[in-house]
Amino acid sequence: MKPTVFIARRIPAIAHHLLEEHCELRVHEGLMPPTREELLAGVQGCSGILSLLSDRIDGEVCEAAGPQLKVISNFAVGYNNMDVPELARRGIAVGNTPDVLTDATADIAVALLLCAARNFGRASQDVRNDVWKTWQPLGWIGKDLVGFGEPKKLGIVGMGRIGSAVAKRMHLGWGMQVLYTARSPKPEVDKELSATHVELPKLLEESDFVSLHVPLNDETHHLIGAPELTLMKETAVLVNTARGEIIDQDALTEALLSRSIYAAGLDVCTPEPLPADDRLLQLDNCFLVPHLGSATQATRDAMAERAAKNILAGLQDQPLPYRISI
Ligand code: DGY
Repeated sequence: MKPTVFIARRIPAIAHHLLEEHCELRVHEGLMPPTREELLAGVQGCSGILSLLSDRIDGEVCEAAGPQLKVISNFAVGYNNMDVPELARRGIAVGNTPDVLTDATADIAVALLLCAARNFGRASQDVRNDVWKTWQPLGWIGKDLVGFGEPKKLGIVGMGRIGSAVAKRMHLGWGMQVLYTARSPKPEVDKELSATHVELPKLLEESDFVSLHVPLNDETHHLIGAPELTLMKETAVLVNTARGEIIDQDALTEALLSRSIYAAGLDVCTPEPLPADDRLLQLDNCFLVPHLGSATQATRDAMAERAAKNILAGLQDQPLPYRISI
């Protein structure tokens, strides 16, 4: 009998094709994530679970699945939705989809930086709402990325794969001077990008653009709150393509409202989606997109392939090719 695998949403076909030869697939259909009840019911009797970042995966899910559960793979590089220590304690192999979304996500960070710095939110609304009447010498003025004095400074919070890819784009393409935080200095990055490892307060004080690239965990929850926002320049732009909870969103809303920072570009927020009456949605200095960092066809296909390969390896008691270890 083939093992059963629960897939928490329909994902690119390559994953379904790779898996269906070896497994019975139970797919949660529809746009919306499974409710907790649907998830717990859906995984019953499964040996593998292919989860999404919106599915909370913990001991209760393992209990609901049963003792035959061997492997869980997230269709994402981030895995803050998974209780990895608990899964490891239960001997479940856990995987994710690293590397393949680095460039797509870095591109979105750059796009958000540009859009927020150059007032795309307000400007695009004005075009659609028939507010645009003529070329305006004083209208839709934004921030420069290049020129007029010293090179602009880009602060990368978390110089991992995606952080480095953003730094590379902005240093080589826009000539920005890169500051970064990381657990320890990265000599190869320092050399390639003339980058400088600094502590977070210095990065926030000095950067014209700040882009967040840390994973969400207990240490990084609300890493950017009111005290940190206060350190930033009034002219600074904050970009987040990591996880919404890394920013204290109320504090960010206040900072944008009071113009204590210039603008924000957000691919992620808390919660996702935002309630229709959220104040962030009213702000013309906040440019938001719907968590689409990895949303290109080739990237999503590659993520699907990696997630499926993790499941197949786990079902065969092989080491996962893209495993999460603690
Ligand atoms: C991830 O993979 O963690 C992204 O946030 C979704 O593509």
